[in-house]
Amino acid sequence: MQTQVGIVGAGPAGLLLGHLLHLNGIDTVVVENRDREYVVDRVRAGVLEQGTVELLRAIGVGAGLERRGLRHEGVYVSFKGCRHRIDMAELTGGKAITVYGQNEVVRDLIEARAATTRPLYFEAQDVRVGDLDASTPVIRFRHRDSEHEVRCDFIAGCDGFHGVCRPSIPEGVLTIHERTYPFGWLGILADAAPSSDELVYTHHDRGFALFSMRSPTVTRLYLQVPPDEPIERWSDDAIWDEMLRRMTTSDGWTPNVGQILQKGVTPMRSFVAAPMRHGRLFLAGDAAHIVPPTGAKGLNLAASDALVLARALKSFYETGSAEWLDRYSAICLRRVWKAQRFSWWMTTLLHRLPEEDAFDHQRQLADLDYLTTSRAAMTSLAEQYVGLPSEVSFESVGL
Ligand code: APR
Ligand code: PHB
Repeated sequence: MQTQVGIVGAGPAGLLLGHLLHLNGIDTVVVENRDREYVVDRVRAGVLEQGTVELLRAIGVGAGLERRGLRHEGVYVSFKGCRHRIDMAELTGGKAITVYGQNEVVRDLIEARAATTRPLYFEAQDVRVGDLDASTPVIRFRHRDSEHEVRCDFIAGCDGFHGVCRPSIPEGVLTIHERTYPFGWLGILADAAPSSDELVYTHHDRGFALFSMRSPTVTRLYLQVPPDEPIERWSDDAIWDEMLRRMTTSDGWTPNVGQILQKGVTPMRSFVAAPMRHGRLFLAGDAAHIVPPTGAKGLNLAASDALVLARALKSFYETGSAEWLDRYSAICLRRVWKAQRFSWWMTTLLHRLPEEDAFDHQRQLADLDYLTTSRAAMTSLAEQYVGLPSEVSFESVGL
C-alpha cells in the first residue's frame, strides 16, 4: 500500500488529523491496534475547550456534540466548605467549555471516517514504523493473518503515551521532561443525576475531589488517592462515603448518590518529549505529551496538535514548502508548555501533598482565596480553562 500520510492510532489526535487531511484532499491510512468497540467504549476525559468544539463543528462532526454536549459557562472552586463560582463566559467575552465524553468524540470521528471510505484498520497487530529518515517511511502491521506494509510520505505518530512511534525514535534525539505526582485519581461513573449544572473542583483537608458529569443522568466523580491505589481496596460504600465527605459544602450542596457503573484509578504525570518530530515522523497528542487531568487539557492538546499538523501538511502538498513542517514542533510546544504549566498549577493548588507542612497548606488556601476574589486571577483561570487562542486559523486548513 501507498499513502501520503500514514497515521498510527485512532484516538482523537489521529482521527481528527485524518479528517482534516481528508477535507483537504490528502490521502491517509489509519492503523489502530484495538478493536472499534474498545476505542468507543473506553471512558476517558470529557471537557472540550471552546476552540475544540468549534473545530469539530467546522469539520462537520458537531451533530452529536450539538445534541448531547453540555455547555458550561462557569465552574466552581470549593474550599473550606464553600463553593465559589467563576463566570468563565463573562470573563472571556462569551467563551465556555462543553462536557462531552472523549469516547463520544471518537465515535463521531470514526463514523465520519467510515463515511469517507478511506482506510482505517482496527485490530492491527505488531505495528512497527521504520525508515523514518528516508523519503518514504513505512508502517508495517499484521491484519487478519496477513502482513501489510504502507509506504508513506510522512507518518503521524498519534498512538498515545504507550504507543510504538515515540520509542522508534533513535536514542538521544528526544529530550524528555517528566514529573510524576505522589497521588492518583480514583474515578467513578455513577447512575445519578448531576446535582450541579457545572463542575466543582474541591480542595479538602482529606484530599482533592472533583464533581463532573456525562449526561443529565450520569455523574462523573474523582477522588485523590495514593498513586497505584488498588481499586479493590475501595468498596462502593467507601467511595461514596469519601466523595460526600470531601464534596458536601456548608450550604448543604452534595452530589446525588447512585449505582456505580464503572470505577478505576489513574496515575498522574506531566510529560513532554521534544522535539515532536524526527525525520518524517511527527508525534501528536499523548504520544508526545501527557498532562495531569486537573486542567482538563489532554484531549484539547491532541486536537490542537492535529490542527497544526494538518496546516503544515496542507502547506507542503500545496506549495512544496517544508516551512510549516519545520515549525510544527515549536508551534505545538508553545501551547503544550502553557497547558503543562496550567495543569501543574491547578494540580498543586488543589491536591493535598503528602509532604506538605502548615506553610504549604496556608499558601494553598491564600492562593484559593485570591483566585476566588480577584477578577484578574479569575480571568486568568477562565481564559486558560476555555482555551488560549490558536496560532493556526481554521481558514488556513480550508475550513
Ligand atoms: N499501534 C496502533 N495504535 C496504537 C498503538 C500501536 N502500537 N498503541 C496505541 N495505539 C492506539 C490506542 O489504542 C489509541 O486508540 O492509539 C490511540 C491513541 O489514542 P489516545 O491514547 O486517546 O491519544 P490521543 O489521540 O493523543 O488523545 C489524547 O487521550 O489519554 C487521553 O487525556 C488524554 O484526552 C487525551 C487524549
Ligand atoms: C471529566 O469529566 O472526566 C473531567 C472533568 C474535568 C477534569 C478532568 C476530568 O479536570
